[in-house]
Amino acid sequence: MSYAVHIQAFRDLIGQAGVVDDPERIAPYTTDQRQLFTGSSFAVLKPATTPQVADIVKLAARLGLGIVPQGGNTSYCGGATPDTSGRQIIVSLERMDGIREIDPFSMTVSVDAGAILTKVQDAAAAAGLLLPLSLGAEGSCRIGGNIGTNAGGLSVVKYGMTRDLILGVEAVLSDGTVVSDMRKLRKNNTGYDVKHCFIGSEGTLGIVTGAVLRLAPSPARRATAWLKLAAGAPLVELLALVRRQSADLLTTFEFMTSRSIALATDVIINPPSVGAGPGGAILVELASSSDHLDLDGLLEAVLGEAVESRWVDDAYLAQNGSQRAAMWEVRETIPEGEKRRNGSVKHDISVPLSAIQSFLDLAGAQVRTYAADLELSVYGHVGDGNLHYNVLVPPDVDRIEFSREVEGSLSLQLYDIAASLDGTFSAEHGVGRFKRHLLEKYGDAGRLAAMRRIKTAFDPSNLLNAGAVVYPLERDNIG
Ligand code: FAD
Ligand code: MLT
Ligand code: ZN
Repeated sequence: MSYAVHIQAFRDLIGQAGVVDDPERIAPYTTDQRQLFTGSSFAVLKPATTPQVADIVKLAARLGLGIVPQGGNTSYCGGATPDTSGRQIIVSLERMDGIREIDPFSMTVSVDAGAILTKVQDAAAAAGLLLPLSLGAEGSCRIGGNIGTNAGGLSVVKYGMTRDLILGVEAVLSDGTVVSDMRKLRKNNTGYDVKHCFIGSEGTLGIVTGAVLRLAPSPARRATAWLKLAAGAPLVELLALVRRQSADLLTTFEFMTSRSIALATDVIINPPSVGAGPGGAILVELASSSDHLDLDGLLEAVLGEAVESRWVDDAYLAQNGSQRAAMWEVRETIPEGEKRRNGSVKHDISVPLSAIQSFLDLAGAQVRTYAADLELSVYGHVGDGNLHYNVLVPPDVDRIEFSREVEGSLSLQLYDIAASLDGTFSAEHGVGRFKRHLLEKYGDAGRLAAMRRIKTAFDPSNLLNAGAVVYPLERDNIG
């Protein structure tokens, strides 16, 4: 089918610069970041203003087209990828990337939704403040995508998920209505808190065009350490000890197994000599905005206690910024290490903190029964009860075929274990297209019914990101 008339109509609406119809330039937008799925789209639209987003939505509805909102396209679950019908256009927010305002006394930053996360971090830092959202994809993911996925990352243990950082939102609904709720208020009990509908709903309820984020004081001091864990070290008890003794200054508690560390150090040009003990390793960080606290001294004392407990074989305190950066580089390079090897089947497991060890024990036994030679890369945000329990794709096999096989068998067994511990199959990566069947399988029936009602109320004709997250009430409406 030719879409020439549609393309011209969008050009008339938002100008030549906002409409990409060259298939070669469209291609990077129609494949997910792990290259597991390729959809199709006849155009990528790049609006420059919120009224243009509203105009696009209205025209798409008149033309019977669907819309997939896209930020940096770093989603791990195909949330930003169109289906294969060809009738979904991609609305990329990348031209809407401005910092609207920093208010140092309210400690907020107001941004366009297409702003890249590092740009917003840098703007906050220039004002002496911290945007406490940090993840491996921060150089390419965009605030609208972070909101769409309710991104987590590396400092959730102190600052919470994206949801905890959002004070206000501007969004376009499926009929073109603009919700202007760019408030800086900490307190605002004036009825339904509608912004939460857009956070974590993966572009299915509205297109976020702007946001107000809460900032924190910039850390003046940080203390960072690498812990080599003894065999059988109890992660949760260790976390409790560090949390209790670090005077609420704990910002990071990241777990890594030796296999994950090796994947990262294989990629890093001059890797530091940090490694894992038999129980793995922990990257721990304390931060404070006060100049008056001796964080190194505090962390040293905490680590001394941990070593005494025999849970930690060795602990290294970063002596300067470059040692700290080297430790962080190892943690942050693990996903790239997995990718370079031949990728991984990712399991973004969430369990109550108290069940972390049970999950590791039960999952380990399950993997051994499934295939003794399977290689795992296990790491993650243990401080948040979130493990990345990834199965490495062997170097010499077809990545997609292997992923499908594991996802149809072992993955479900792992999710069953998580569910049996009152946990879930997606901690921070979302549902997207890839995990929709898991939501159907593991989701509470009442909660799913409520989600469908919300979807139907916000988007009765299933215009927005149809095929992701949840079906509306009428399954016939699926785009
Ligand atoms: P996209 O991938 O473009 O979109 C994600 C979803 O949001 C889609 O459903 C899309 O439709 C929707 N969306 C995008 N923009 C909008 C908008 N303006 N309005 C409404 N909906 C929108 N995630 C974590 O949570 N924690 C991590 O630690 C983490 N680490 C990562 C490390 C690497 C190396 C990579 C590649 C990814 C990582 N991720 C992580 C996953 C990913 O980066 C996050 O989900 C991120 O928030 C996605 O942002 P994005 O701009 O790329 O969104
Ligand atoms: C991370 O924490 O590094 C990512 O969320 C997990 C991944 O990339 O697999
Ligand atoms: Zn993560």
